[in-house]
Order: sequence, then C-alpha cells, then structure tokens
Amino acid sequence: MSQPRLTAALAVLILAGVSARAADSCIDCHRRAVLPLDREHDYAQWEKSAHGKAGVSCHGCHGGDPTRTGPNAHKGLLPSSDPASPIYFSKVPETCGTCHAEELQAFRKSAHHKELMRSGKGPNCVTCHGSMANEILTPKQLETTCSLCHRKPMGARPALMALNNASAAVERLGAQVLGSSADSPETKETHAQLARERAELLRDWHTFALKGALEKAQLLTKKAVAASRALTARDAGREK
Ligand code: HEC
Ligand code: HEC
Ligand code: HEC
Ligand code: HEC
Ligand code: HEC
Repeated sequence: MSQPRLTAALAVLILAGVSARAADSCIDCHRRAVLPLDREHDYAQWEKSAHGKAGVSCHGCHGGDPTRTGPNAHKGLLPSSDPASPIYFSKVPETCGTCHAEELQAFRKSAHHKELMRSGKGPNCVTCHGSMANEILTPKQLETTCSLCHRKPMGARPALMALNNASAAVERLGAQVLGSSADSPETKETHAQLARERAELLRDWHTFALKGALEKAQLLTKKAVAASRALTARDAGREK
C-alpha cells in the first residue's frame, strides 16, 4: 500500500473498530450466540480468518453500530439480498475496496468488473476469496474457480504457481539478508525493491491479464534467485 492509502486504510480500520475491539458488540454477542446462520460464515470462521486476526470486525463489511448493545446494534444492517446493502453482490468490491484500495483499482480495469456491473455475471471478490475472505487459493483451486464460468483453461494455474514461486524466492532472499554476515546495503535495497515488485504484482493480478502476470512473476523469481546467489558468494568470500 502506498503512504496516503495506508493512512486512509488505517483511519478506516480505526473507525471499523480495530482499536475499539474491547467495546465491539458484534463480536461480544456473536461470539456467544449459537445462531441459525450461514455455517461457512460465522464467528468461528471469522476468528480463524485474516480479518479476525487483524481485528477487522463484522461491521467493517456489514455496517451496523458496534457501540450499541442488544438489537440496536443491528440498526442499518441490511441483508445481502438488498441492493442497498454493502454486501449486495455488485457492491462487494467497493466495500472490500475501502481497505484494499489498490486491488479494487486493478479489479476495476478488468472485464470482470465491467461484466459484474453490466450483467451481474462477472465474479466479485468473494467468488475467489470466500465471503469471510479467508481463502488463499491454491493454483488448482483457482483453476477450478475460473472453470465455474470459463470453458477453456484460462492459464490461472501456471500464473498462480509462478506468482507463488516468486513470493517464496523473495521471502528466502529476505531471510538470507537478515542472516547474512556481509552487511550489504545494496542487497538490502535489492530485496526491498523486489518486495515492492511482488506487492505490485499481487495487486495487478486483479486485472486478470494473466499472461503478463506469469512473465513478470518468472522474471521476479530470476532476479531474486540471482541476488540470493550473489549474496551467498559474498558471504562465502568473507568467511575465507
Ligand atoms: C445482542 C446480540 C447481537 C449483537 C450485539 C449483534 N448481533 Fe448480529 N445477530 C444476532 C442474532 C441472534 C442474529 C440471528 C437472528 C437474526 O437474524 O436476527 C444475528 C444476525 C446477524 C446477521 C444476519 C442477518 C440476516 O439478515 O440474516 C448479521 C449480518 C449480523 N448479525 C451482523 C452483526 C453486526 C455487524 C453487529 C455489530 C454492528 C451485530 N450483528 C451485533 C445477535 C447480535
Ligand atoms: C471481510 C468482510 C466480512 C466480514 C469481516 C464479515 N462478513 Fe459476514 N458477509 C460478508 C459478505 C460479503 C457476505 C455476503 C454473502 C456472500 O456473498 O457469500 C456476508 C454474509 C453474512 C451472513 C449471511 C447473511 C446475508 O445477509 O447474506 C451472516 C449471518 C454474516 N455475514 C455474519 C457475519 C458475522 C457475525 C461477522 C463477524 C463475526 C461477519 N459476518 C464478518 C462479508 C463479511
Ligand atoms: C475494514 C477494513 C477491511 C475490509 C472492509 C476488508 N478487509 Fe481484507 N484485510 C484487512 C486487513 C487489515 C487484513 C490483514 C492485513 C493484510 O493482509 O493486509 C486483510 C486481509 C485480507 C486478505 C489476505 C488474506 C490472507 O490470508 O492473507 C484478503 C484476501 C482480503 N483481506 C480480502 C478482502 C475481501 C474480499 C473483502 C471484502 C469482502 C475485504 N478483504 C474487506 C482489512 C479489510
Ligand atoms: C478471479 C479470482 C479473484 C477475484 C475476483 C479477486 N481476487 Fe484477490 N486474489 C486472487 C488471487 C489468486 C490472489 C493471489 C494469490 C493469493 O493470495 O491467493 C489474490 C490476492 C489478493 C490479496 C492479497 C493477499 C496476499 O497474499 O497479500 C488481496 C488483499 C485481495 N486479493 C483482495 C481482493 C479484492 C478486494 C477483490 C475484489 C475487488 C479481489 N481480491 C478479487 C483471486 C481473486
Ligand atoms: C462468476 C463467473 C466468472 C469467474 C469465476 C471467472 N470469470 Fe473470467 N469472465 C467472466 C465473464 C462473464 C467475462 C466477460 C465475458 C467474456 O469475455 O467471456 C469474463 C472475462 C474474462 C477475461 C477477459 C476475456 C478477454 O478475452 O478479454 C479474462 C482474461 C478472464 N475472464 C479470466 C478469468 C480467470 C483467470 C478466472 C479465474 C481466476 C476467471 N476469469 C473467473 C466470468 C467469470
């Protein structure tokens, strides 16, 4: 995330209750409630999700008033079937985008967004991430998700594998930089640069121009592996 966006996202998070977790009636009540609710999407799922761990409460996506207790907390809460609800299918991207602005920006450029707005037939964020956004898909699962709507293979599996490889290579380089005896500002800068490229790639992925994403990911892996080899050689040189 870039700086101004980060600040905006933090403001949203604070409003959304990250800092006010202690006084969050949604969580207090839903934690205890045994409800006839969607079993894929209840308190237990939330607690396990990235959002639960980051303290992004129910009202971050649903609205309502977490400062009230009892039924008043539900004031303004609308079911997903209501077009005015923040979780109505065509509103979901905007809602997620209050915090994930860069993914939303990329997604808006895609044929999927156009189709979602025009006919309702494009996927929205929840199609791939789950309604609690607790899914980080494997390449195989992703391919299966695409084939829900596309008959021919969309190249999602190789592209996501390449992306995952690139992420792993950048992470390995990061760990190596930390453990290195050669205190090398250039390698640190290279790692920071590659980490930025990775973040950009993850975000631009949401335009679904996957051929380009595949090539960029492969290039990124090469650069990270090269930097890693160079650092290994330098460390070995110092030990002699
Ligand atoms: C005092 C307990 C309590 C509090 C506080 C509470 N809820 Fe609920 N909530 C329930 C119960 C019980 C149900 C299931 C019965 C129903 O549908 O009304 C429910 C249902 C829901 C539903 C499903 C509604 C539907 O239309 O199917 C959502 C979404 C929800 N709550 C979100 C929230 C959010 C967001 C907050 C905080 C702003 C919150 N709840 C605060 C008890 C609570
Ligand atoms: C990251 C966003 C997000 C968070 C956090 C979240 N929800 Fe949801 N929730 C959704 C979306 C989107 C849907 C719409 C269902 C779908 O499309 O799968 C939904 C649907 C539901 C439903 C089904 C009712 C309906 O209107 O469709 C219930 C009940 C519910 N959520 C309760 C909760 C509770 C309780 C919490 C907190 C413990 C919570 N949610 C946290 C995004 C979220
Ligand atoms: C109120 C702010 C907020 C909203 C709204 C929100 N998120 Fe998040 N999301 C976060 C935070 C904070 C994290 C955890 C830190 C991070 O990875 O950036 C996160 C993490 C994620 C992750 C990473 C999951 C992982 O396991 O690494 C995905 C995917 C995601 N969100 C998708 C969504 C989707 C889809 C929606 C809408 C249904 C949504 N988010 C709504 C704040 C939000
Ligand atoms: C067609 C499937 C698909 C759709 C639609 C989609 N995503 Fe993603 N998203 C992915 C994949 C695949 C990744 C990258 C690999 C991973 O994290 O699983 C990803 C990554 C992310 C991440 C980063 C997770 C991390 O590891 O840091 C966030 C945040 C995110 N998406 C949010 C969104 C939001 C917000 C929307 C809607 C505006 C959205 N996504 C729509 C498939 C999708
Ligand atoms: C919910 C249905 C749905 C899912 C799931 C879905 N798509 Fe699509 N996709 C569409 C629709 C509808 C269009 C627009 C009509 C068309 O071009 O076929 C589209 C268009 C596209 C396009 C643009 C086509 C072009 O020729 O410009 C690409 C690329 C694409 N999808 C890739 C993917 C990938 C990759 C996945 C899985 C990660 C995926 N889609 C998942 C419905 C979906």
